Amino acid sequence: MTIDGLLAVHTYRTGPAGPVPLALLHGFPLDHRMWDDVAALLPGDRTVLAPDLPGLGDSPSGDDVAGALAAPAEPSIDAAADAVAATLRAAGVERAVVAGLSMGGYVAMALAERHPALVAGLGLLDTKSTTDDDAARAGRLRIAAAVLAEGRVDAVLGMARALLGETSRERQPELVGLVEHWIRGQGPAGIAWSQRAMAARPDRTAVLAGFAGPALVLVGAEDAIAPLAAAEHEAAALPDAVLVVVPRAGHLTSVENPEPVAAALDALALRVDRA
Ligand code: MLT
Repeated sequence: MTIDGLLAVHTYRTGPAGPVPLALLHGFPLDHRMWDDVAALLPGDRTVLAPDLPGLGDSPSGDDVAGALAAPAEPSIDAAADAVAATLRAAGVERAVVAGLSMGGYVAMALAERHPALVAGLGLLDTKSTTDDDAARAGRLRIAAAVLAEGRVDAVLGMARALLGETSRERQPELVGLVEHWIRGQGPAGIAWSQRAMAARPDRTAVLAGFAGPALVLVGAEDAIAPLAAAEHEAAALPDAVLVVVPRAGHLTSVENPEPVAAALDALALRVDRA
């Protein structure tokens, strides 16, 4: 479903009024499909939905989304967050448990800052509240330029292996092909827009310190991209956080070991229901 030219939303389940809906924000360079296993494992009848972020999956390009929002045309995580907020509201969701993995976590933190009334609970999975260093930022801009110049996404295909932990690469080698397949399904413009948006993102550790609601910080034990130290930094900043380390998983916890991820998200959502 695409709402008013905003983001495409995949609704996994529509539940009754009462339980606070769960909004899942995917990582880069992927789309909502990285939540399929977790969504299937979530108990209960809570509404669960997952937008595709600008330019990825079935969503319109970042430029089109910024145009629809009358936002500055420069790629930004803020524009992605504004698009998620507008899309959720158009879907009738005024308050949600917002959980994002990696890039989705950057967007979730921007939502907590820019649309605090929407974020009843915050799930940060395999993500960082800090900015890139200069080398990482330059690398992102190089990749953005390469995919646009080549008209292909080959420059990010290698991420399929990097996103997965060593245990998954050994014991679930089929996941490499699955993640590559998802990456091949993205367009160069969406890859470039996302890289530029991530390169420009600010440090949001102070936003976490100001977030009073229930929070979850989750990290794969083998995550080399947003490692345990990043998760500990976020958990220390958040006033009410539970920290969960997922065994036998790298950066893509929701795909590599979905059971503990679903259990942790359900526990977060129940804390929000009770708050
Ligand atoms: C992701 O999984 O979303 C990316 O690793 C985020 C990033 O490149 O910082």
